[in-house]
Amino acid sequence: MILPNSIRHILETAKIEEVVQHFLPLKRSGANLTALCPFHHEKTPSFNVSPTRNIFKCFGCGKGGNAAKFLMEHEGYSFPEALRWLAKKYNIEIQETKPTTEQLAAQQEEESLFIVNDFVLKFFQNNLPGAGLNYLQSRGFTEATIQKFGLSYAPDSWDALKKAATQAGFKLQYLQKLGLTTPSGKDFFHHRAIFPIHNLSGKTIAFAGRILDNSNPSNSSNNSNQPKYLNSPESPIYHKSQTLYGIHMAKQAIRRQDECILVEGYTDLIALHQAGIENVVASAGTALTKEQLLLIRRFSTNLKILYDGDPAGIQATLRGLDLALEQNMNVKIVPLPHPDDPDSFLRKVGITAFTELLNTQAKDFISFKANLLLASAGNDPVKRAAAVHNIVDSIALVPDPIKRSFFIKDCAALVGLGEEVLTLETNKVLQALAQKQPVFIPKEPVHASVLSFTNGTYERHLTLLLLEHGAETFSPTENITVAGYILSNIEDVLGHFEDPLCQRIFRETKIKLASNQLFTPLYFINHDDPAMSTLATDLAAIAMKQDNNSFSPEWQNRDFQNIGKQGISQIITNTLLRLKLDIINRWCETNRKKLEEAQHSGDMALVLKLLKIQAKLNETRNELARQLQIASIS
Ligand code: UTP
Ligand code: MN
Repeated sequence: MILPNSIRHILETAKIEEVVQHFLPLKRSGANLTALCPFHHEKTPSFNVSPTRNIFKCFGCGKGGNAAKFLMEHEGYSFPEALRWLAKKYNIEIQETKPTTEQLAAQQEEESLFIVNDFVLKFFQNNLPGAGLNYLQSRGFTEATIQKFGLSYAPDSWDALKKAATQAGFKLQYLQKLGLTTPSGKDFFHHRAIFPIHNLSGKTIAFAGRILDNSNPSNSSNNSNQPKYLNSPESPIYHKSQTLYGIHMAKQAIRRQDECILVEGYTDLIALHQAGIENVVASAGTALTKEQLLLIRRFSTNLKILYDGDPAGIQATLRGLDLALEQNMNVKIVPLPHPDDPDSFLRKVGITAFTELLNTQAKDFISFKANLLLASAGNDPVKRAAAVHNIVDSIALVPDPIKRSFFIKDCAALVGLGEEVLTLETNKVLQALAQKQPVFIPKEPVHASVLSFTNGTYERHLTLLLLEHGAETFSPTENITVAGYILSNIEDVLGHFEDPLCQRIFRETKIKLASNQLFTPLYFINHDDPAMSTLATDLAAIAMKQDNNSFSPEWQNRDFQNIGKQGISQIITNTLLRLKLDIINRWCETNRKKLEEAQHSGDMALVLKLLKIQAKLNETRNELARQLQIASIS
């Protein structure tokens, strides 16, 4: 594990503009840098980078954060992976807790397995000329495609790989762990075309081998009863349920187009790539898993499935796709005429007609499912009812109620039933689901709406002032910083904050100041609690908008806008007073309710007590209002 101090050091050294610039061209715009947002489709740039605050923020889709967050979003890295990338870029030595012996062994084993796979891939590539190359060329793959996908060949021998690898010094034990050598000591792949399988960051984790059989490619076995494809078994670095073929090469295109095309086969994916369609991944002949969908969801929530028209196959796949609905993904299906698959169909009709089909024939998942089930139910009312129940079960999985109503509408029209009946049935399923498990709430990034001050406005406003100006001098005569001033004036109300995160920012600032550390907003931007860093980023984003001076009309009316004219100290005093007034008003309201209850129940002693409190509160309120008035006119 990377040590907290090391994490901070890396995050504070990394310059957001340098990291982003590694992937996108940035243009200067005032104090900030802008670009077309890589996370959603747009024509005018709303993606902003603030070098002073060391964050990025898109005012279109809401994504924002520090350099590590950018890498996680853009490259699909985990947090540790992002840190390692940054440490490498900035030549920082990572400080880690000593791994346990087992962790160390596992890590070393993983690394060794990757190295073995690299060697094996080279071995297969060296063996390509001849039968392997002829086969791949006969499939229409160009030299560039063969190179790009590492397509290669396992020679017609039972031990060529084992010999080469052990001679090169690799342990047999590792070859066996990877399934490349069978327990009886034979090569797992022989006389097959090889398709290397990669993980998200492009490391070779496994192989698939296709029989060199030029007969009908949709025929899943040849006469020797050998399976058409053999796949490496699971290993410490290959987990089938978490792998999608081609994802590392597709991720950027998926994000750019905000859509992922899903095909079944290796060759389908490669053919599409060769034709210029790059936002595609392959499920490699297994039912989709939740992990695979989450992998796709990192880059887009729009999924387009391109399967061949074989009904049995489709029905099997559809079962896995309820999972996609549960993840709130938009699933579309493009049926291909049987017996074509994307590869053969593309070759038949050409790229223009193919793209046209993708764009015009996509059906939403629910109507596709409805059509399919109803067709197989025919006129049998019992079967039709079962089909409707099946569809309703799927609709109930959609978390977004608006989308659900649209699906119900479509489905009602399709099955010839009233919307009310279907709504009723859907609600029944929803209730049953709710009893079984907590309702799924998708984790979306906090959106621009938090930027407009509604509830807790003055808490947030004050927090923003602290983050933006905390290190500045509040009053030169008293030699106190803004952070110091706010902290010494907020003591009495801090316990009554409505927003626990704002409260934590002040509490943690207090601890830092008490130990004589300098105030820096980066501490919160890089906070290890994601909720804290999200708040700090969102607040910084408000200030960034202000830099740009072109957003949010309601903002113009805020005091903050007038910082230049009013002076920071006055704004802070003002905000503090308003915050206190807010809190007193809340207390007044609570007290008033209690008073009503007491009067109602005739508890005169309590009524008197509450009236006294009311008077005190009113007094304080008037005093605050008076001070505020003075502060506002001066
Ligand atoms: P297909 O039978 O559709 O093969 O299986 P394909 O991809 O079109 O291959 P070609 O064009 O005939 O060469 C779809 C996927 O199912 C998996 C593979 O991932 C394949 O790409 N599969 C298929 C296997 O794992 N084993 C098999 O024996 C067959
Ligand atoms: Mn095929």
